[in-house]
Amino acid sequence: MLFLSEQEMWQSVTLEDVMDAIEDAYAIHKSGNYKMPDRFIAQRDKNMMLYMPCFLDSVIGTKMLSEFPDNPSLGIPYLNGLMILNNAKTGLPKAIMNGSALTAMRTGAVGGVALRYLAPEDAASVGLVGCGMQGLHQLLYACEVRPITDIYLYDAYAKDLSGFIERLSARLASFGKNAIQIHTCADTRELAEHSRVLISATQAVDPVYPDDEELLRGKCFVAIGSWRPERRELPDAVWKLVKNAYTELPYACEESGDLKIPLEKGVLTQ
Ligand SMILES: NC(=O)c1ccc[n+]([C@@H]2O[C@H](COP(=O)([O-])OP(=O)(O)OC[C@H]3O[C@@H](n4cnc5c(N)ncnc54)[C@H](O)[C@@H]3O)[C@@H](O)[C@H]2O)c1
Repeated sequence: MLFLSEQEMWQSVTLEDVMDAIEDAYAIHKSGNYKMPDRFIAQRDKNMMLYMPCFLDSVIGTKMLSEFPDNPSLGIPYLNGLMILNNAKTGLPKAIMNGSALTAMRTGAVGGVALRYLAPEDAASVGLVGCGMQGLHQLLYACEVRPITDIYLYDAYAKDLSGFIERLSARLASFGKNAIQIHTCADTRELAEHSRVLISATQAVDPVYPDDEELLRGKCFVAIGSWRPERRELPDAVWKLVKNAYTELPYACEESGDLKIPLEKGVLTQ
């Protein structure tokens, strides 16, 4: 069996490779040739275990993640996990890899693919709300797909972002991007004023941006925090600015507060 650590995973692929793999996954999804049950969540108090199996003809993949909200106060990441691959014919385990690293790689690449196609070609500024593990990876991909010169940061709770900036700078430098300027913002209004692309990667239950259509008009959004019905990152103004919203899974309208709450309020109709 193959065991892959975070370091080995990053040594095996480029950012472009991971984004190409995401596009392959979308093609498989479009083909319908897979079996993927809705994400199963086991919860005790506020701690959650997530089980995400998917059968393809070639392989079976299962990602298992834990989300323990008190971890950051213990100095441990909030999200941890494993990815397991099994042989599609026999079920025998083929590989085990670091699921936290895979999540950051994969989720960052989903944002990266969105920006590849949807962000203005000349977008040079990106704002990040929520300066954690996912946010850092979202920024790596954003800087890979667009000629980013300036990054703007805001975090509601982590007031000292120097450690994050140090880690981000080191990662950007490892991809040859040494010249990008990193700025911190006092609030998300300031961040949105400066940024063409807006990324949020938080555990927010209330929208992270002001509900202001003029402020948000013409921006390209990536919002990854709202995968629970009670969590929400995007204000109603975003939905008022768009003509249609598309999801790849109907279940997203139940699972994501960013869709479910505007649907309930009538800001979006199904
Ligand atoms: N969509 C997906 O596929 C996917 C995948 C992985 C993680 N996630 C989600 O992404 C989010 C971030 O995960 P992470 O591992 O980076 O967590 P993290 O704890 O490392 O980072 C989150 C950061 O957001 C900040 N934050 C929280 N609420 C905020 C708010 N209202 N405004 C501004 N900043 C706020 C926190 O202070 C923290 O620094 C979580 O909600 C996680 O569940 C989504």
